Amino acid sequence: MGQGSRPTLGFIGIGTVGTALSEALAQCGYRIVALYDRHPDRAEALASRIAEHPMAATSPQQVADAADVTFLTVSDDAIATVADSIHWSDRHCVVHCNGATSISLLQCAQNQGAAVGAFHPLQSFASIAQARKNMPGSAFAIEASTPEFEQTLHTMVEALGGVPLSLHGSTVLYHASAVIASNYLVTLLHLASGLWRHLGISQAEGLRALMPLVRGTVENLEAVGLPDALTGPIARGDVGTVRRHLEALAESEPQILTVYEQLARHAIPIALAKGTIDATAAKQLSAVLDEANTGDAG
Ligand SMILES: NC(=O)c1ccc[n+]([C@@H]2O[C@H](COP(=O)([O-])OP(=O)(O)OC[C@H]3O[C@@H](n4cnc5c(N)ncnc54)[C@H](OP(=O)(O)O)[C@@H]3O)[C@@H](O)[C@H]2O)c1
Repeated sequence: MGQGSRPTLGFIGIGTVGTALSEALAQCGYRIVALYDRHPDRAEALASRIAEHPMAATSPQQVADAADVTFLTVSDDAIATVADSIHWSDRHCVVHCNGATSISLLQCAQNQGAAVGAFHPLQSFASIAQARKNMPGSAFAIEASTPEFEQTLHTMVEALGGVPLSLHGSTVLYHASAVIASNYLVTLLHLASGLWRHLGISQAEGLRALMPLVRGTVENLEAVGLPDALTGPIARGDVGTVRRHLEALAESEPQILTVYEQLARHAIPIALAKGTIDATAAKQLSAVLDEANTGDAG
């Protein structure tokens, strides 16, 4: 490996994650030696911004041969194809950043002697600026084919101000959890803010009005955790309010009724665990939700 105990790094795929990670690692003192993207201007532009001016490579192989550790930060579907196009040996180390697949995606590199790994930031990177802002404090799922390489990746996460999380084997449920917590939260807020149109208020304004509530809820989750962060009609056992919600949704936005009903059902055991409703209230809430399911609510 490169200078001291710190490996030199190369990146193949200069999109959101490739750009943000390479710049952040360069700022932490890692030497980025080569960058490649199928759009050469992206690699050249990034190389000119990094202090030590890494090589803007003309092929993925050039990156793998120049760097101690190669990051494959291409789109998920391209990872195996790009990895398979490179000649690997036991002097190479290579990682991908896809949270839904294990290191088996890099089997071909491992068969040729390379150490392989996965390095997944558990964070939503909507843009490069957001990625840089959100990386410190984030968990990073790490998997590696050797203990030495796993330690190298842990050290990198710690240098970024992240929290390393060792995962082994299938990571599909880990990724499904991340998608529910992040992408489907966005989807829920799309549905919630869309209801404001029925009040004569735009979705954008509705979203702005909801954001302090969302932030407060997230802060409650951080402060008191589950089940105590649950508030609202299910936590209070307020059957009448739940019935009115179901009736109004059936009339105005019937396509959202199923989502509301399903989430309300999952909220009932949380309220029971919090101790704010008893088994009788839970049964009454379930009965109202059953009516909505059979179309009796509207
Ligand atoms: N974005 C996130 O929130 C996030 C979070 C954690 C992990 N990740 C993971 O990070 C990795 C990169 O994601 P990203 O969001 O940075 O994607 P991205 O912004 O779309 O960047 C991917 C880059 O790879 C290039 N590329 C695609 N196919 C290629 C191929 N066959 N050969 C060479 N280059 C190719 C793309 O070029 P084109 O523009 O021409 O397609 C683009 O420059 C993925 O594994 C993803 O799962 C993403």
